Amino acid sequence: MMRFDPLLRRALKDLEARSLRRQLRPLQLTPDQVLHRGQAITDFSSNDYLGLSGHRLLRERSAEWAMQHGTGARASRLVSGTLDLHERVENRLAQFKGTEAALLFASGWQANAAVLPALFRLAKEQTGEAPLVFCDKLNHASMHQGCAAAGIRQIRFRHNDLNHLESLLVRHTDLPGMRFILTESVFSMDGDTADIAALSALAKRYDAFLYLDEAHATGVLGPQGRGLSHGHEVDLVMGTFSKALGSMGAYIAGSRALCDWIITASSGFIYSTAPSPPMLGAMDAALEIVPGLDMERQALHQKAERLRQALNAAGIDTGLSNTQIVPVILGEETTTLSVARVLEERGILTIAIRPPTVPSGSARLRLALSASHDDASITSLIDSVITALRQTQA
Ligand SMILES: Cc1ncc(COP(=O)(O)O)c(C=O)c1O
Repeated sequence: MMRFDPLLRRALKDLEARSLRRQLRPLQLTPDQVLHRGQAITDFSSNDYLGLSGHRLLRERSAEWAMQHGTGARASRLVSGTLDLHERVENRLAQFKGTEAALLFASGWQANAAVLPALFRLAKEQTGEAPLVFCDKLNHASMHQGCAAAGIRQIRFRHNDLNHLESLLVRHTDLPGMRFILTESVFSMDGDTADIAALSALAKRYDAFLYLDEAHATGVLGPQGRGLSHGHEVDLVMGTFSKALGSMGAYIAGSRALCDWIITASSGFIYSTAPSPPMLGAMDAALEIVPGLDMERQALHQKAERLRQALNAAGIDTGLSNTQIVPVILGEETTTLSVARVLEERGILTIAIRPPTVPSGSARLRLALSASHDDASITSLIDSVITALRQTQA
């Protein structure tokens, strides 16, 4: 027992009493199966939307690049960590996203947390004024972190409410400082989408820098999975390799000047070890195959539509989801935990999402579909959710 353990235990107990304690749950993974305590379980909680985490090409190229180049990049990008492999993947990425340049990060969380302060520094240095940062209320925690690290007081607009955003932009017209709009193309806990054309038009009208997180759209939405930003003017697109692209790591895509600024001004880029060859191998293979997966994308969206229709017909609230993420919004933390438990007993893995990840009173099961789920498993999911909910409410 360490000196501060009683304090830590008390804090944990307090969270437990409010059903808010988070705990780890180890699973076993094979390329085509998820096992929980040795039993196969159907996983509807992961972000492996195209089932690429077990794809042979990603596994092979990752292993190949590890064997050929080693397991680590050995240094940060600006020291001696930049390899020809980074440039190859970044060039592929820029082509995929239709931008002049792209830059890799170790994770999506790190990208948002590290890039935003560098952009705000640019604004401050070039205008002499603090920036005005307009944020969707449901933005991911990593964007909040990026704002907090730069001491920014966010100006929050109601989720996906562009009239509210415009009214806030108007209200702040007389204030100096560069404007930023921070939002996501697919919201991770709601599975709804932002109107990128309208956002881009607003950003232009009010001379604001548009920062778009495409973590859950990359690979899944837009032509050939290029994201919802495709075909629109967006100043910076951020996305991840950790979800539909089946491995880990993240990117930003934009102009060459933008990436050059981040290279020289972002602490999280400068002082962190470069992504490793096996990571890069998986990224490279994903970028090679994702544009050709239109059939998988179409099937994924059809499955999500079927799921929503069946749940809604049973009176279950799935919010405004129109993507592969389908929330089952239950409200109460305890009900949500109970339903997740019953589902788990039936061999279905879903995770109860509770505050502060989602607003208070909107606890939910976040169902995330994958191209690797077959129709029978969707049928079983629908039956099980409806039965579990009835059982819990009885
Ligand atoms: C919208 C959004 N942005 C960023 C991230 C972080 O990405 P990563 O898991 O690669 O760190 C997530 C992860 O859940 C996310 O949902």
